[in-house]
Amino acid sequence: MSFVTVHEVGPRDGLQNEPGVISVSQKIAFIDALRDAGLKRIEIGSFVSPKWVPQMADTDAVMAGLKQMSGVQYDVLVPNKKGWDSFDAARGQGNYGIAVFIAASEGFSRANLNCTIAESVTRLAPVVAAAEAAGVPVRGYVSCVTDCPFVGEIAPAQVAQAVALLRNLAPMPVSLGDTIGKGTPERVAAMLDAVLDIMPASDLAGHFHDTSGRALDNVRASLAKGLRAFDSAAGGLGGCPYAPGAPGNLATEALVAMLHADGFDTGIDAEKLVAAAKMAKGMRNGADQN
Ligand code: HMG
Ligand code: MG
Repeated sequence: MSFVTVHEVGPRDGLQNEPGVISVSQKIAFIDALRDAGLKRIEIGSFVSPKWVPQMADTDAVMAGLKQMSGVQYDVLVPNKKGWDSFDAARGQGNYGIAVFIAASEGFSRANLNCTIAESVTRLAPVVAAAEAAGVPVRGYVSCVTDCPFVGEIAPAQVAQAVALLRNLAPMPVSLGDTIGKGTPERVAAMLDAVLDIMPASDLAGHFHDTSGRALDNVRASLAKGLRAFDSAAGGLGGCPYAPGAPGNLATEALVAMLHADGFDTGIDAEKLVAAAKMAKGMRNGADQN
């Protein structure tokens, strides 16, 4: 049976967009539930500007409360050296990775990172170097791989160029973000053809927001191209605060149900995952789960 790795991004991509107050203990309980369901890669927060994304300002406190379990890696987003330094101070002996992120579109780069694509890569160079020196795994994201909320459709060649910029920093795995969920299977397939010319499917992940209800179709199109890793958020939480029209990530429970029905193994307990998804939806509604 073919194995698919599911990267849970709910605690970061999901919660970063929630307007209500979500306590550190609620976040930790959510991450515990995800881990109990069998998720082994969980993106738990970010070290970005608290003025830009207030909901992630307590990521160091979340890290301090996490249980370390063999085989489980927690990831955090880091946009620059200041973010790396904060992460480095918080990580202790824990099993953490970082995710660095750029865009395939200049419009989104400006809105999300306040700089050009080239400047964002320049800022990431010392971050990637520090991570490599410290033995911390690095993952890359490219946003807007089919559409940008500011400039519209993105050509596959532009995505391949952005991927190449990350891969020039280090041979990192790359997650391809359909940030506003406008991609169709046909356009995702064309984009993947361009990216697969420069890196193997085994190092790629699909990160599909589900705005148009096409995320599962886009997963299937990616599976057909050989991808075996996908990002999703329990309960379908999420969106990017700097991407108008990006309300929800693909729900992990929907992704896992489809993968299991199609005969893929994920190592995830679907029933326990439903409990974690319920917790996620409760946080969205402002209910205290503790
Ligand atoms: P800036 O305002 O240009 O930064 O923001 P700056 O260097 O001019 O500094 C301004 C202030 O921010 C200073 O503080 C810095 O110290 C502080 P002040 O002197 O004013 O008090 N600062 C920081 N504070 C904490 N941590 C840091 C940090 N860096 C600077 N790391 C910056 C530039 C990159 C910081 C800002 O644009 C930012 O934080 N952007 C992140 C936005 C974000 O997190 N977006 C969501 C995640 S991406 C996403 O969701 C897409 C994804 O899911 C894939 C997909 O769906 O496509 C990954
Ligand atoms: Mg996202």
